[in-house]
Amino acid sequence: MKVSKICCIGAGYVGGPTCSVIAHKCPDIQVTVVDLSEQRVKEWNSDRLPIYEPGLAEIVVGSRGKNLHFSTDIASAIRGADIIFISVNTPTKTYGHGKNKAADLKFVEAAARNIAETVETGFKIVVEKSTVPVKAAESIATILKAIKRPGVTYQVLSNPEFLAEGSAISDLLSPDRILIGGEKSEDGARAMETLASVYGHWVDREKILTVSSWSSELSKLAANAFLAQRISSINSFSAICERTGADVNEVAKAVGTDSRIGPKFLQASIGFGGSCFQKDILNLVYICEELNLDEVAAYWKNVVDINDYQKQRFTKKIVDTLFNTIAGKKICILGFAFKKDTGDTRESAAIYVAKQLLDEGAKLSIYDPKVTREQIFMDLEHPFISGDDPARVAKLVTVDTDPYAAAEGSHALVVCTEWDEFRGYDYPRIYSSMEKPAFVFDGRRILDHDAMMKIGFHVETIGKKLYNGAPQNGYHTQPSESF
Ligand code: UDX
Ligand code: ADP
Repeated sequence: MKVSKICCIGAGYVGGPTCSVIAHKCPDIQVTVVDLSEQRVKEWNSDRLPIYEPGLAEIVVGSRGKNLHFSTDIASAIRGADIIFISVNTPTKTYGHGKNKAADLKFVEAAARNIAETVETGFKIVVEKSTVPVKAAESIATILKAIKRPGVTYQVLSNPEFLAEGSAISDLLSPDRILIGGEKSEDGARAMETLASVYGHWVDREKILTVSSWSSELSKLAANAFLAQRISSINSFSAICERTGADVNEVAKAVGTDSRIGPKFLQASIGFGGSCFQKDILNLVYICEELNLDEVAAYWKNVVDINDYQKQRFTKKIVDTLFNTIAGKKICILGFAFKKDTGDTRESAAIYVAKQLLDEGAKLSIYDPKVTREQIFMDLEHPFISGDDPARVAKLVTVDTDPYAAAEGSHALVVCTEWDEFRGYDYPRIYSSMEKPAFVFDGRRILDHDAMMKIGFHVETIGKKLYNGAPQNGYHTQPSESF
């Protein structure tokens, strides 16, 4: 089957970049991305895209208006399409059975119902792109079959997206693999082949894996669980390092050079954030519990528990080091996004750290190169994460657009995101504008700690005990008498 039109329901972090790259690589296919949110669509059609991703703007501008369209006319896009992607949000449920664990599929179901009620004739391939629990493709197929019009036929495929934010465009342009799951039937195979032909415009065929829908859905959860597990594993070692004098970066290097383990995803940090890891692991835990696999559920739950522990440990270190009293003290938070090169703050460890410091009565000045003031205030007032009283947040928090202004008069700098620009600041200037003693808490291990200590900062970090005070042999290394 030749594909000439694709519709994508959901113009978010997944749907927007994915379809922009498809349009960029497939000039023969018309791609329309639709969303319920007029504001979001307006932004996709403007000079200020709703999300920041390196390289995204160029790709969008290159195809927009030619074969890439953003629209709120969901029905027309669905009707005209050969392939319909569902890329809507699947947040953790905040109510009822599975509350705080299961994925909330109400948006997926609404999109499926919309498709079934809209399509009048012909054959459509419906592709589940959002990360969903195992058997969601089956549920989508059941809904489509139950309410479809006569003469319409569907094949439902699972095609999870593995892009990481901040590197979405390069991940999409050179994916490690494309995973397509479908029904084990002749029609299923044909549908998988049709979708594969779209990716075949720029991805080698041997990188396109076709499996059953269930394997595809479970593989996405497994991949995220494995990645998050590596971070929790190295973070658990960071706690041991801080007590023993070992350096977690040296441990990570030594471990990662084993070719069976590999060097990636071993960067100790204040804890992973983002819209996927925690959500997907909790969903996995819920699925295991529903399947009466309690030991398996407990095993994966620990990955999230260690992540929470890491965030708590870091915040406690700040309070303890600042003489156990931070009420009324100005603390400067550098970075609010969950990682560098994105403006996304979903599940960002910075939110947790900021809230805990606010609970202690600190005044916060926050600087992030890409996160807006509105977003920061929304996150700090959010009711689901021990939301703070908006009036109190307004009184205690300022958001600065200049890092030097944010740092001025503060007792401590707290690095929560690994933005490259944080490495190149004029730290002697910052030091001279701060209260003394001036503290730095490097939650991402991006700063030159020896240089910072030479300037006069008291520095604390993750996974390494630093010896603040007089340098030993010119360096703040471990004193030999410790052995
Ligand atoms: C993740 C998966 O990588 C991606 O394949 C999936 O499609 C969606 O979820 P994302 O959450 O966008 O992507 O970013 P990722 O690079 O995985 O980082 C997640 C979090 O882990 C960030 O907070 C990051 O700072 C943290 N992290 C990552 C570490 O703390 N240490 C590391 O070594 C790597
Ligand atoms: P993700 O990170 O999974 O892409 P986002 O929250 O960034 O999630 O984006 C999901 C998008 O899907 C949102 O812009 C939301 O408005 C849109 N959306 C949700 N349900 C529907 C629906 N039924 N029809 C169209 N768009 C939808």
